[in-house]
Amino acid sequence: MKILFATNNAHKLAEVSAVLGPQFTLTTPREAGIAEDIPEDQPTLEGNALQKARYIHARTGLDCFADDTGLEVEALGGAPGVRSARYATDGHDFAANNRLLLRNLEGCGNRQARFRTVIALILGGEEHLFEGIVEGRIDTREAGCGGFGYDPLFIPDGFACSFAEMSAEEKNAVSHRGRAVRKLAEFLHETIERS
Ligand code: IMP
Repeated sequence: MKILFATNNAHKLAEVSAVLGPQFTLTTPREAGIAEDIPEDQPTLEGNALQKARYIHARTGLDCFADDTGLEVEALGGAPGVRSARYATDGHDFAANNRLLLRNLEGCGNRQARFRTVIALILGGEEHLFEGIVEGRIDTREAGCGGFGYDPLFIPDGFACSFAEMSAEEKNAVSHRGRAVRKLAEFLHETIERS
């Protein structure tokens, strides 16, 4: 089965493709002739994921899905949340984002945080949402050099090290995106078996 994933990020594509398995061939917006940036200007992760999936579907008519992820820090009222990519600057400046997060939590005892991923799927014209969450805490200093984004600061519950200190396999097994993608995979496999 062919399905379009609304990302041109090769790393994400490979990660999601591995979880979905060989029954599914993922294509990209670029391969479907969409060269422009896909809009994502909604105030929630759900809104952004749906906006991206609807945009692709309206232009191609293909079965497709899109994801959006945010880091939600309890003491900051859920920030940076939907603005996680552009927390400190307008670009995806991971180092600046991490510095700002540490500064905003300086002296704060409550370091509780969670990563949340939402996937919006449009299959046969019908919309479905899947959510993956990992709870954890924000450390007082960066540790590790794996992963990306806030990984050096995020320690998932049940672990003593940050996401950036884990292998990709260890992170995927517990991560927000891993959990959301496994829910998507389960749904797609059940749908194929029923048809
Ligand atoms: P996206 O929706 O996957 O593009 O994620 C938005 C932003 O959230 C990214 O630019 C990162 O700052 C952050 N983020 C998403 N997933 C992760 C992760 O697995 N580790 C660390 N940061 C992440």
